Amino acid sequence: MDEPVLVALQKVNKVYGVAVKYQVLFDITMTVPRGQFLALIGPSGSGKTTLLNIIGALDRPTSGRVLIEGQDLGKLSDEALARFRNRFLGFIFQFHYLLPEFNALENVLIPYWIGSGKPGKEVAEKAMYLLERVGLKDAARKRITLLSGGQQQRVAIARALLNDPQLILADEPTGALDTKTGEQVLELLDEIRQQSNTTMIMVTHNRDVALKADRIIELIDGKLCKEVYPQRVGLKEAMEILESHACNLDDVGEEPSSRTQPGSR
Ligand SMILES: Nc1ncnc2c1ncn2[C@@H]1O[C@H](COP(=O)(O)OP(=O)(O)OP(=O)(O)O)[C@@H](O)[C@H]1O
Ligand SMILES: [Mg+2]
Repeated sequence: MDEPVLVALQKVNKVYGVAVKYQVLFDITMTVPRGQFLALIGPSGSGKTTLLNIIGALDRPTSGRVLIEGQDLGKLSDEALARFRNRFLGFIFQFHYLLPEFNALENVLIPYWIGSGKPGKEVAEKAMYLLERVGLKDAARKRITLLSGGQQQRVAIARALLNDPQLILADEPTGALDTKTGEQVLELLDEIRQQSNTTMIMVTHNRDVALKADRIIELIDGKLCKEVYPQRVGLKEAMEILESHACNLDDVGEEPSSRTQPGSR
């Protein structure tokens, strides 16, 4: 059975700059069904983070619409958007924005504190469980500034998962981690997705990570270029599509997946 659409982008454009205009995203139209693990790939500067920030309502498109569960984010007040982010989203940033004066456990709990008030015992236990799962049990009460970059990234991952987000937006969550820790983090994200049918959009430069996703979308110069379903077409074919220089999405603005995938029959 097809899952309902969770995220819909309709002709999303993003232009930076006032005097000198610089267009970063061009007519991005796509949908993401609930439960999908979507990997967003593309060269540095192609607009991946910009797109993720727009989906997560941290930034607004210059034109076009973003709908989450059919709700147009452009119609929500700043307050409603903040509530939406807090209740619905788990954001794992490329740079993790932790609070240096607090310890790891406090950093995991702070968004909860802001959104819902003082966390009870159960929430604190869950925060500890998540820290344990990212391999930081012993570092829970250490000040953030005493942790390594990779450890800090893992604190940020635990923080993003505390509120049982329906949509995880992850910007290179394993970029700063060694292979083993990176794998542990991906396993945790996978387990959480399986348990609660969580949707995840993950930016990654790592092809092996992307190939584990249900679907891969490549952005080139702010346009959708490729779409691949690795499990449907098989890894070999998926790699070939990714390595080819040709885009398999060419009508910008038309919805991907509505056209035939090479080898998907
Ligand atoms: N606030 C901003 N003001 C002006 N230009 C910006 C801003 N944010 C991003 N850009 C530009 O938009 C383009 C896309 O940036 P973006 O961060 O989305 O790329 P990316 O695909 O995430 O790259 P990377 O893989 O290096 O993280 C870049 O050329 C960047 O310089
Ligand atoms: Mg980026």
